[in-house]
Amino acid sequence: MQQAVTAPAHVQTAIDLLRARFGERLSTSSGVRDHHAKDESWHVPHRPDAVVFPTSTEEVAEIVRICAAHRTPVVAYGTGTSLEGAVIPEHGGVVIDLMHMDQVLQVNADDLDVTVQARVTRKQLNDFIRDRGLFFPIDPGADASLGGMAATRASGTNAVRYGTMRENVLALTVVLADGRVIRTSRRARKSAAGYDLTRLFVGSEGTLGIITEVTLRLYGIPEAMAAAVCSFDSLEGAVNAVIQTIQLGVPVARIELLDDVQMDAVNRFSKLDYPVQNTLFVEFHGTEAGVKEQAELVESIAGENGGGSFRWASRPEERTALWTARHDVTYANKALRPGCEIWATDVCVPISRLAECIVETKADLAQSFLIAPLVGHVGDGNFHLGFVIDRNNPSEVAEAERLNDRLVMRAIAMDGTCTGEHGIGLGKMKFLTAEHGEAVSVMRDIKRALDPHGILNPGKIFTL
Ligand code: LAC
Ligand code: ZN
Repeated sequence: MQQAVTAPAHVQTAIDLLRARFGERLSTSSGVRDHHAKDESWHVPHRPDAVVFPTSTEEVAEIVRICAAHRTPVVAYGTGTSLEGAVIPEHGGVVIDLMHMDQVLQVNADDLDVTVQARVTRKQLNDFIRDRGLFFPIDPGADASLGGMAATRASGTNAVRYGTMRENVLALTVVLADGRVIRTSRRARKSAAGYDLTRLFVGSEGTLGIITEVTLRLYGIPEAMAAAVCSFDSLEGAVNAVIQTIQLGVPVARIELLDDVQMDAVNRFSKLDYPVQNTLFVEFHGTEAGVKEQAELVESIAGENGGGSFRWASRPEERTALWTARHDVTYANKALRPGCEIWATDVCVPISRLAECIVETKADLAQSFLIAPLVGHVGDGNFHLGFVIDRNNPSEVAEAERLNDRLVMRAIAMDGTCTGEHGIGLGKMKFLTAEHGEAVSVMRDIKRALDPHGILNPGKIFTL
């Protein structure tokens, strides 16, 4: 950890005031600070000076007011599962761990919405609402907090059918940098009342405010769900099958690509026996008849593109095993080279450019000495490489950086984005201007207006 031993005087003053107010609910122990120094990315950890555990929005506001008065950085923490350094307290200061804010506040089954405190996780929410026949579909893999998912505009495997957090957050309660508490919207499904502050805070990565409550859309649990695996002769065939499926408007719930390198890693790690080929994992939601119809259509599209017949996982436990294996790709990739780390990339392009983007990326990889399985939410045009690197080997780190730069610039040149879902955090800061140009200056204006002293998650998205 790169860190001074003691906090700067103004930060220490804030910590003393917080300790007087929160007592045992403030910690400066090295164990607690270490735990809040990192996320699940390859970025270098950095410790906060203190961690505080509030129980309400009002307490979060009190903490922020104290920190604001003493120009102390504040970083909100949910489950620490971000993949681009979003929660790493780069400038030290105070981490607000929301772990005690884990209550489901209000389920409005008739309106298909729910309001939760920010630290409710997606699995916790789904367990809570299942008996009412409802579910919340956004699934980034990790059992992330819903506040964190809103803050990073998360998505994952179901986004092709249900959208991302951008489409599924109806309203937020946010603590601003000066301690004001705002509600960004009411529960109406649509509104033309003023600026869309909900969308402004979704994806702001804790740099504009601290999300303490989230109102989300819910969905009825589909009558039928079925998942299948389909192996392809070629990577292009698999990608073209996805593109045609999307262009035909088939409402697939999930359509995920794993290349042959990734399938090999998944088979080994999850003790499965799928062919080591470029593979699609698909899932259909709907009525029994609807699922059957969608499945037949996609199977025939797959067949025309060199895909084999579907291997079904229809029983709930088979589906769970399939998606668990899919979600465990990072662990599977780590297991390829014990002691190594995974640098997970994340780009997204318009669907018509996806085959080109993936083929060019694979050509780059073929020339490289690094191993990098490819996996992605290809129905959205979104995919990842998992560079398996030894971070103590500078040539491996440099090579991953070179390949990542090329991948990102390729995606941007195709009118895509440097991150489909992981966020800017630390790792994508250098690409923001390439992607947004002058619009970044507007983002800076907004940041300065809402956080003039730069205390909220400083050093993320852009430097001021
Ligand atoms: C996934 C993470 C890397 O899709 O976003 O597995
Ligand atoms: Zn992903």
